[in-house]
Amino acid sequence: DWTMEHVVEMEVEKIREQVGDRKVLCALSGGVDSSVVAALIHRAIGDQLTCIFVDHGLLRKNEADDVMRTLGDGFNMNILKIDAKDRFMSKLEGVSDPEKKRKIIGNEFIYVFDDEAEKLKDIDFLAQGTLYTDIIESGTETAQTIKSHHNVGGLPEDMEFDLIEPLNTLFKDEVRALGLELGVPEHIVWRQPFPGPGLAIRILGAITEEKLEIVRESDAVLRDEIKNAGLDRDIWQYFTVLPDIRSVGVMGDERTYDYTIGIRAVTSIDGMTSDWARIPWEVLEKISTRIVNEVDHINRVVYDVTSKPPATIEWE
Ligand code: XMP
Repeated sequence: DWTMEHVVEMEVEKIREQVGDRKVLCALSGGVDSSVVAALIHRAIGDQLTCIFVDHGLLRKNEADDVMRTLGDGFNMNILKIDAKDRFMSKLEGVSDPEKKRKIIGNEFIYVFDDEAEKLKDIDFLAQGTLYTDIIESGTETAQTIKSHHNVGGLPEDMEFDLIEPLNTLFKDEVRALGLELGVPEHIVWRQPFPGPGLAIRILGAITEEKLEIVRESDAVLRDEIKNAGLDRDIWQYFTVLPDIRSVGVMGDERTYDYTIGIRAVTSIDGMTSDWARIPWEVLEKISTRIVNEVDHINRVVYDVTSKPPATIEWE
């Protein structure tokens, strides 16, 4: 595509001019925006870019490995993967309030990032995947209030970096096109939105290893079946949630008393409003059967049929 090729050339030129022979740091989340920013900057300045990827232990199944494989190995990028799972889990222990969970994760993310960034020498720039829409939306108070919980923290005030935001004139669809032009694989370019606090806000109440495992495994089954059904591009977001309830079931001759998994799948344009996705019953049936069979401690699967408003997309 000529237009995107041209955009890449121009952006690469701009970044080279701005950065010269200095160094850039980028926080990689594995999401579309940060991956495309990293790929673009890497195209421009190669080894002068270092990425920090904080694995808070709240990612989806195989997500951290995938980021390292596709961007680290595939693009030959410098990525420091920080395994901070224990730090996050110990801070989150026993915490059940959703906003407290968010705050702890946001803050801890900054501490971890900060600790690592401090060890790096001579970094002058920080790259961010800010989009055009992020800029317009933060112009109004309502948008700001709604958005305030959407970014995992910010950056420490005392960090002295100049910002590079090469996507800040682009819309999401343009970022996707740019990503493809840069050779970012489709499964990353078309990745569904995933919240910064990760699986933590999909476990209602306090987080435990066991519950994380349940959400992670059931989510993997759901994603697999949505992809098999060819629905992955039609549904804005689809994931499983683990409410803090148990119910009675029967398996073989045995009575069970175990957890319920909720399936949330929504169509949306921008996440501000949404409708529940009309997933065909046969697909739901397959998902339900597989989750109950493959995920320990689940004896019941329910489907969330609420739009936003009044419900939010996430359950916390
Ligand atoms: P809600 O649940 O508010 O979600 O309808 C709207 C969109 O925002 C995402 N979301 C978050 N993203 N940090 C994020 O980075 C958060 O704390 C957060 N909470 C919700 C949600 O996944 C959906 O796409």
